[in-house]
Amino acid sequence: MRILTGIQPSGKLHIGNYFGAIKPATELQEQGDAYIFIANYHAMTTVQDGPALREMTKDVALDYLACGIDPEKTALYRQSDLPEVHELAWLLSVVCPMGLLERCHSYKDKIAKGIAASHGLFAYPVLMAADILAVQSNVVPVGKDQKQHVEVTRDLAIKFNNQFGEVFTIPEPAIRENVAVVPGIDGQKMSKSYDNTIEIFAEGKPLKKRVMSIVTDSKELEDPKEPEGDNVFALYKLFASEEEQNDLAERYRAGGLGYGHAKLELLEKMNEHFGPIREKRRELAANMDYVEDVLKTGAEKARVLACATLQKARQAAGLE
Ligand code: TYM
Repeated sequence: MRILTGIQPSGKLHIGNYFGAIKPATELQEQGDAYIFIANYHAMTTVQDGPALREMTKDVALDYLACGIDPEKTALYRQSDLPEVHELAWLLSVVCPMGLLERCHSYKDKIAKGIAASHGLFAYPVLMAADILAVQSNVVPVGKDQKQHVEVTRDLAIKFNNQFGEVFTIPEPAIRENVAVVPGIDGQKMSKSYDNTIEIFAEGKPLKKRVMSIVTDSKELEDPKEPEGDNVFALYKLFASEEEQNDLAERYRAGGLGYGHAKLELLEKMNEHFGPIREKRRELAANMDYVEDVLKTGAEKARVLACATLQKARQAAGLE
């Protein structure tokens, strides 16, 4: 089984990225041949500042490694070290109906938020399809917001194969129901662009401030509370065992537990979970040469697959 996923280096990674994509990828790398990349070409649709993009790309490499991506098991690389994806994206573009892209929620949401409607933003899913198909991935661990893009990928692969012969493996999204949409501090989907995130590597006072500002209803301390639908409880569930979840749910329903206390319990869980990961990140940050080596080696491995796929596609399309 081959696994591939990617994250845009367009801001600090948050716990939605962590539970939706990074954690599943660290688990799947034990079960197959894993490819994980930093989608810096995609990030250019919103980050158009060279030094900032370079910096954020390194940050995401550190984040992935600190979170448990093991370079012995996973090829970790920068998308821009695999320029073959662009030629592949063109070959997919010519079989991509406009309507397929016009229907993409992610594009419509970004336009609604005021991001300029560039060709890059519109064609974003085609490049994403190229990322996935280049390595002939079977499984793509993502959060629910990327499901439609994986469906576009499947459609394009099928169209290309029907037109030119069997070139691409048809991938499946791997979406875990319990973490498909991690809520932000305001209850909407956690997202960099909604400014409602809790960053994986926040700590100390800024983290506490963020957790204390999670939006709840206005029930008083002594009132019984319903855990389902509460944002603090939804986030607590991500970090706690079933027993701990049941315990907190009972205390919610019994009354006498204020949201402030529940938030402090969540904060403690987060610190327990991310403490060792933060420590590892600090160690890695002191050794950027190692990180650069990991990225280079990862790209070399992914490139072997991308070149083979491209060659097959070019041949099938009559380009050589
Ligand atoms: P990006 O950078 O927006 O998000 C990275 C991953 O985090 C997941 N995610 C979430 N999961 C659960 N709850 C949330 N609140 C939440 N917010 C984000 C996303 O679903 C994603 O899995 N288009 C991709 C990058 C990409 C890619 C690819 C992914 C480019 N090429 C090929 C997979 C395969 C993106 O924008 O991710």
